Amino acid sequence: MLPKFPSKAFLAPMSGVSNPALRLLCRELGAGLVVTEFTNIHAVVAREADIHNFIEFSEKERPLAIQLFGSDLEALQRAIKIVEPYFDIIDYNMGCPADHITQQMACSALLQHPDLTREIFKIMRAATKKPVTVKIRAGVTKPDKWQAIAKIAEEEGLDMITFHPRTVKEGYSGTSNWALIKELKQMVSIPVVGNGDIRTPEDAKRMLDETGCDYVMIGREAMSNPFLFTQINQYLEKGKYGGMSSKKKIETFFKYVEYAKQYPTIKVYNIRMQAMNFSKGCPGGKELRGKLLKLKETVEIERVMKEFYDGL
Ligand SMILES: Cc1cc2nc3c(=O)[nH]c(=O)nc-3n(C[C@H](O)[C@H](O)[C@H](O)COP(=O)(O)O)c2cc1C
Repeated sequence: MLPKFPSKAFLAPMSGVSNPALRLLCRELGAGLVVTEFTNIHAVVAREADIHNFIEFSEKERPLAIQLFGSDLEALQRAIKIVEPYFDIIDYNMGCPADHITQQMACSALLQHPDLTREIFKIMRAATKKPVTVKIRAGVTKPDKWQAIAKIAEEEGLDMITFHPRTVKEGYSGTSNWALIKELKQMVSIPVVGNGDIRTPEDAKRMLDETGCDYVMIGREAMSNPFLFTQINQYLEKGKYGGMSSKKKIETFFKYVEYAKQYPTIKVYNIRMQAMNFSKGCPGGKELRGKLLKLKETVEIERVMKEFYDGL
């Protein structure tokens, strides 16, 4: 059974971005679910003995999903057994469009292979009693087999489907075709998470209203504006939401650094990236970002951000 989600707005899995520091920040700011970056099943198996160092997370993130990828059935089964004690949901990636991944018959490549997908879902369902979910795109070159894949997910007992209705070929170009989310919601009886192009609380509400999806998932906008979760929750509850001051944005950066320091896998470039992201929209942000680009140590980044904060 799915856990009770404290909000309808979820943080998307984002490789290189949705690390335990950003996830915790988003949870604290109101995200209903956070998901790890996609994780290779072979790496999980290889790192079994030190899985806690390989996959970093904290209890405070719950409800927390791990996202796995890879289509080797034996490794998948083993990987699920290894990670299931630690996570509330096991999610499966069928959306990543990167060539070096799809060449391994993983992620979005599977959208062309309903039979193999069924085997994968069977293995996943049998391997754990924890909820199993899947995240899909609309197709490879055109939106075609996603309906079959979604039906298979439902038939094999998966608990939820997240849909980013762009094709692999589209990458992030064009717009997320929300009409397909509506079609999916009408087709299956398991919960549907709509995803793609939500930038404001109004967008989130519009996706919920127009498609009937149960939850929404936010990726790119949450990288620079994790307050969006608070704002969406306020907007869905009261029909209005508060703004975010520049000072508050930079304070969020310092919180991110505080959390990031607890995790060896979070590197200086993550901290620099978030300094740049969180300063978006602040007066003088552009000049600040020019300075940040040259910095190579966390302490330097913190110093420059403190000076910026004091000048706001
Ligand atoms: C930097 C980056 C990394 C991503 N990594 C993953 C990933 O690991 N797993 C996944 O399912 N989707 C991944 N995605 C896709 C997002 O989860 C999401 O589906 C996509 O960004 C569309 O949502 P948005 O318009 O709110 O950004 C990634 C997206 C970005 C921008």
